[in-house]
Amino acid sequence: MNRVTHDTVRAVQWTGDHLRLLDQRRLPGESVYLDIPDAAAAASAIRDMVVRGAPAIGITAAYGVAMAARAAPADTRDWLKVLEPAMERLAAARPTAVNLFWALGRMERVIEAGGMDLPAALEAEARRIHEEDLAANRRMGELGAALMGPAGAVLTHCNTGSLATGGYGTALGVIRSAFAAGHIDKVYADETRPWLQGARLTAWELVQDGIPVDLVCEGAAASLMRRGCVGWVVVGADRIAANGDTANKIGTYPLAVLARHHGVRFMVVAPTSTIDMETPDGAGIPIEERDASEVLSLGGQPVAAEGAGAWNPAFDVTPAELIDAIVTEKGVVERPDRAKMTALMK
Ligand code: MRU
Repeated sequence: MNRVTHDTVRAVQWTGDHLRLLDQRRLPGESVYLDIPDAAAAASAIRDMVVRGAPAIGITAAYGVAMAARAAPADTRDWLKVLEPAMERLAAARPTAVNLFWALGRMERVIEAGGMDLPAALEAEARRIHEEDLAANRRMGELGAALMGPAGAVLTHCNTGSLATGGYGTALGVIRSAFAAGHIDKVYADETRPWLQGARLTAWELVQDGIPVDLVCEGAAASLMRRGCVGWVVVGADRIAANGDTANKIGTYPLAVLARHHGVRFMVVAPTSTIDMETPDGAGIPIEERDASEVLSLGGQPVAAEGAGAWNPAFDVTPAELIDAIVTEKGVVERPDRAKMTALMK
């Protein structure tokens, strides 16, 4: 955590005994950490959005498995059978972010490999997943900032920062690096209805770390682009299919359409743990639909006419042809397609 890289927040913390999660439902009003003692609490924290953002969800699930292993009887022989219920519960928490299933897959491979002290091995793997994510974010920050070059201001969506990852962030990591390099002087953040990740979380992180931020309603994005106010749109991802189609927070796809129309470049920043080569294209990505109450109310107060219903998909899919670059820790894929994604993942 350091001021030079404009990065001070850590939302997922491992104490050596249990998880501590910054309760993101209470930001920006209160900064409260919750103690998460076991896998069931980790699954609830993911489902209830105490922790959110694709990489942070994966890291939390990995520690969830480590905690389940530690709680198992010392004479356990069939570890897979004993840990399966906890892993299934974690897997069922949210459907779209593939990092959750990727992290559980890594933990499962450690279980299958066996060993003298499996709880210790699983804790070590969870720590590795956490550390690797932070390192990947720093690398993507460098690559994305170099690709961006002098850009004036950028527009981002949802929250992709330290709160959504092991630290530093994906799209927000690029923004941090670009700001530190003097490539950008301002960030426009979409407020990101209905959960307000932009207003509540991204603006909070950027203010904490001294990066100038102006909030915009989603509807203002077209006018912002038309006036030439932003050089790039920079977003994260919850799952990238084998052809480069990208699922991210609802409202990302319209930004990509607008960016193409206005000649603004569009960058997706995600670690390779977000790339799902088993899903051929965006049509195969499961899209979470959340409760209508998130749209019908705001901060617990009803904002819609009584009796109205609501459709509340949490994510949308941006077709690869609208994406100028996918930045990963393994390299940058410009104008992504199936062949380029396959080469990256080899
Ligand atoms: O519903 P959320 O807040 O978990 O959605 C998060 C996003 O869509 C992020 O943009 C995405 O996970 C990338 S985070 C590094």
